Amino acid sequence: MYNILVTGAGGQLGKCILDCKKTHKKYNFHFATRIELDICNFEAVSDYCQANDIHVIINCAAYTNVDAAESDIENAFRINKYGAENIAIVAKQQACSLLHISTDYVFDGNGKVPYNEEDATNPVTVYGKSKLAGELAIKKINPANTVIIRTSWLYSQYAPNFLKTMLRLGKEKTEISVVDDQKGCPTFAIDLANVLLKMIPEIKCEQVKTYHFSNENTTSWYLFAQRIINTIYRDVKVVPIPTSAFITKAKRPEFSVLDCTRIKNDFGLTIRVWEKALEECLSVVVSSKK
Ligand SMILES: NC(=O)c1ccc[n+]([C@@H]2O[C@H](COP(=O)([O-])OP(=O)(O)OC[C@H]3O[C@@H](n4cnc5c(N)ncnc54)[C@H](OP(=O)(O)O)[C@@H]3O)[C@@H](O)[C@H]2O)c1
Repeated sequence: MYNILVTGAGGQLGKCILDCKKTHKKYNFHFATRIELDICNFEAVSDYCQANDIHVIINCAAYTNVDAAESDIENAFRINKYGAENIAIVAKQQACSLLHISTDYVFDGNGKVPYNEEDATNPVTVYGKSKLAGELAIKKINPANTVIIRTSWLYSQYAPNFLKTMLRLGKEKTEISVVDDQKGCPTFAIDLANVLLKMIPEIKCEQVKTYHFSNENTTSWYLFAQRIINTIYRDVKVVPIPTSAFITKAKRPEFSVLDCTRIKNDFGLTIRVWEKALEECLSVVVSSKK
């Protein structure tokens, strides 16, 4: 029986792990929201892990507001760098396995082919820089049996995320404009949650190992939005626009496709295409409204 701590359990990935809990009976979960456990408080994290005899930490806690981070640099780094560092120190001291979640935003998005784990990082946003700083802090501490899993375009039935924004706009508007010149891979958080739980007993590494995980197939935000809207609100029109017509505080990567070959090979995974995963997520959204 593994005792597993999920930090940031009030967020969408944390909630999705909770949803997957029933299919993993050999795990004894401890879900801690920000109120219950602040990863920036080293003593609290250390005491929590000791008191609950934690064997595995899944760090879902993060500062994830990409635009707000541009002017809230201190907080972004406090949580994404120093919070991650705290977790890594505790993992090392108490010999816990660690699964830390990171992001495609560690890359600059100027690539033309899918990014693999060895490609040079070059974050262009505060969020991306703070997440990379967290990765580097974990690598420096180097607790055994630690993996960093970078993912992209994470969505679920739990807000806030792009899918939930589209569903809200679809209810309010007859036409929605969405950027068509940014490419990436959507990731259903339930699929990521299941993979994390599957990985746990198989993680054995002396050096921190990085993996990429997203659903299969590349798309654009426009095509992703169109698929969401066409499934739920057939009369709403989705219009493609260039990034230059949708100004945000933080620059979004043009090309954010992750190469997931390593995780598939090391853990014997078959990853479903994003279209199939989206279908399942939307059916959950629809059935929860009935
Ligand atoms: N969302 C995406 O598109 C995306 C893409 C790539 C990678 N990721 C990564 O995936 C992971 C999970 O993201 P998500 O979408 O589930 O994010 P989320 O919904 O924003 O959840 C993050 C959770 O962390 C909590 N948190 C913030 N500061 C904390 C602290 N000091 N101590 C403990 N908990 C804290 C937040 O609580 P409050 O809500 O109270 O602040 C929130 O519940 C993150 O590492 C993120 O960087 C996300």
